[in-house]
Amino acid sequence: MRVLITGVTGFAGSHLAEYLLARGDTVYGTYRVRSRMELLYELPQELQNRLHLVECELKDANSVDDLIDSVRPEAIFHLAAQSFVPTSWNSPEDTLVNNIVSEVNIFEAVRRFKQNSRIQIACSSEEYGLVNPNEVPINEQNPLRPLSPYGVSKVAQDLLGYQYHHSYGLHVVRTRTFNHEGPRRGESFVLSNFAQQIARIEQGKQPPILEVGNLEAVRDFTDVRDIVRAYVLAVEQGNAGEVYNLGSGHTWRIGDALNELLNLTKTSIEVRPSPSRMRPSDVMILQCDASKFMRLTGWQPSIPFEQTLQNLLDYWRARA
Ligand code: GDD
Repeated sequence: MRVLITGVTGFAGSHLAEYLLARGDTVYGTYRVRSRMELLYELPQELQNRLHLVECELKDANSVDDLIDSVRPEAIFHLAAQSFVPTSWNSPEDTLVNNIVSEVNIFEAVRRFKQNSRIQIACSSEEYGLVNPNEVPINEQNPLRPLSPYGVSKVAQDLLGYQYHHSYGLHVVRTRTFNHEGPRRGESFVLSNFAQQIARIEQGKQPPILEVGNLEAVRDFTDVRDIVRAYVLAVEQGNAGEVYNLGSGHTWRIGDALNELLNLTKTSIEVRPSPSRMRPSDVMILQCDASKFMRLTGWQPSIPFEQTLQNLLDYWRARA
């Protein structure tokens, strides 16, 4: 396939590029002038050499037109987004514009150039937001009750995908992905942040105090390498206009996940709550029912959580 990945310099984007390049696909990826490229340097050199990087500001319609006209992709994986929930409270406008306008520009460019691309949109379990205890595991029919500007931006992306399919026949497949972790995860996100703190403490770069936020939230974690395989299946086998939940179905209280990480170190560490890490409203429980996608594609996560945690800690140990 001739594919385009928006956000190729990011966490999921770099893993997706690695997976597709290793399969032999032709991969184009977008970056911005201020993008940090270091995650791509983690790919084997032979794969890096085959990755085509295209500078593009997705918020700018002209820039996206040039992108689609020059790449003419058979498949588009739209992963680029402002993806950190707390940032969306500090700068809601930026999150909304980034996430919504960029997607509209892609859809409009695909229409303008009559490009018959299969388009995957990376939506999020944060769209479900306020989930009642009797509503888990969450299937695609669950009401969307987002609790952050980020969640609202993802609802908009999701519904725009639905609308562009029905209005113009675009081949849009929406994936609502639950939390995914693994090497290269940004240091702000919970397990990566905890793993980074442990690595820094082990190496004497931080006092033996690990700062935490809300440990009572419950999340459904899947390894990022399993998630990017699912994205490819979604593009290849997903039905246009449909939405699919992606997640393992296994949940961890954040405090219990932290204890599993702490079990991987011999260093004695004090856990300390930090009020600045608390959110105005937190999504308390996310547990995925991915049976719709699994029935369609046969996809199953293959990497156990314990391995994801070990890989994440080792990643930060090598970088602390
Ligand atoms: N980041 C962070 N840092 N979160 C903490 C901390 C901390 O020190 N302590 C506790 N938490 C809790 C958060 O309050 C939240 O309940 C949970 O850990 C997970 O936080 P994040 O890792 O920041 O992820 P998220 O669940 O808010 O959002 C992620 O998953 C979504 C899919 O459900 C992001 O990857 C989103 O982009 C993604 O859409």
